[in-house]
Amino acid sequence: MGTAALMIEPSRVLGANDRVRVGFIGFGGRAQELVTQLLPLPGAELVAVADIYTRRLDEAKHLAPTVRTFDDHRRLLDAKDVDAVIVASPLHMHCRHFVDTLAAGKDLYSEKTMTWSIAEAEKCLAAAKDSNRIVQIGLQHESSGALADARKWIGDGMVGKVTHVQSWMSRNTPRGKGQWVRPIPADCNAQNVNWQAFLNGRPDRAFDANKFINWRLFWEFSGGNVTENMVHQIAWIISALDLNLPAAASMSGGVFSEPDGREVPDTIAVTLEYPSLAVTWQSTFSNSHFGLGEHILGSDGTIEHVAGANDMVTGTSASSIHYYPEKLNRPGGTAVAGQTPDQNHMLNFIDCIRTRKQTNAPVDIGYRSAIAAHMANMAYRHKQRVTLETAKTMVDPVG
Ligand SMILES: NC(=O)c1ccc[n+]([C@@H]2O[C@H](COP(=O)([O-])OP(=O)(O)OC[C@H]3O[C@@H](n4cnc5c(N)ncnc54)[C@H](O)[C@@H]3O)[C@@H](O)[C@H]2O)c1
Repeated sequence: MGTAALMIEPSRVLGANDRVRVGFIGFGGRAQELVTQLLPLPGAELVAVADIYTRRLDEAKHLAPTVRTFDDHRRLLDAKDVDAVIVASPLHMHCRHFVDTLAAGKDLYSEKTMTWSIAEAEKCLAAAKDSNRIVQIGLQHESSGALADARKWIGDGMVGKVTHVQSWMSRNTPRGKGQWVRPIPADCNAQNVNWQAFLNGRPDRAFDANKFINWRLFWEFSGGNVTENMVHQIAWIISALDLNLPAAASMSGGVFSEPDGREVPDTIAVTLEYPSLAVTWQSTFSNSHFGLGEHILGSDGTIEHVAGANDMVTGTSASSIHYYPEKLNRPGGTAVAGQTPDQNHMLNFIDCIRTRKQTNAPVDIGYRSAIAAHMANMAYRHKQRVTLETAKTMVDPVG
């Protein structure tokens, strides 16, 4: 596949005044948020949408009457007038859409988590390295000012030796309404959905509207809250501290607050072991008091990055980052509040298509964060601590 990606020329070379013509693969909830970020950008144009559910194509036409719609992503990728593709399909389809997009010579924005499995992460990394295409992963906190602040404080030696990073995410829902559970539209049936395309090689079975709409709740299609949200925070921590891959991972928890038939746990405790530090991450779905955040604990100082319960998803609500000195080792140090403004993650993608510079969330951070997430889920499903080596070779009970 990498060779194919090399051989295929991009649709065109963009001049300074040319608009970047963008297509979407998957036009559900997240894509319809991303399109509102794309449309205001002066250098970008929405030209095509591919989805396998007729309702989503109707919604695209309603939003942009001239948009061309496709019921098969391969037909969108054949289109010569598409320069770049945004992949916002369910997790178990990311790898296929990622690799196909690069092989078609298009630049790529792929939603997180980059892939559903470790093997797929390896495949996408290789495909991206073999191509000269721009890749941005939908890890929008890689464009945050808070990350720039944390990197600067760490780089300036204000934090000292870091052996532990604590992180957490807490959410709540009204009693009786499960986190992530979406209503099934009346037109969601086997006539309007290409169910085989959704299964993407999973064992064949009769159409299941709940699994199609609420795919997040089931291992075959999802990685649960580890791939929905931990991945944002672990990517941020990896980038702040320049970490590579975990040496080992453990994860425990269960379906405690949402006993609605879901398979993925709602209550989670993860430990990721890096060569000289441990990262812990906890998730709960029945209490939102502490929102979400990260504490980088160093011998010379602490970085506290906290946000409201939904920040990592919408990217819109307020968050703050502070540095506090450890007076034991930095007696003259003073507390600092981070001030660096966020960059626009979508604009960064469009800019990089023109400049051919590396994006804020290139394939490497997609890869490293995906491997950490999948190692944690492997540890949970196998009920044991897994090392990087064993995670790569273990047979996944849902794979
Ligand atoms: N970066 C973020 O903050 C953020 C926030 C929310 C969701 N996401 C990610 O975005 C992705 C999509 O999530 P969502 O909530 O929009 O899901 P969704 O179910 O609302 O949308 C997925 C869309 O993909 C379509 N689809 C399914 N199979 C397809 C195929 N083979 N070809 C083309 N289209 C296909 C579905 O019909 C649906 O319209 C997920 O990976 C999710 O983790 C990221």
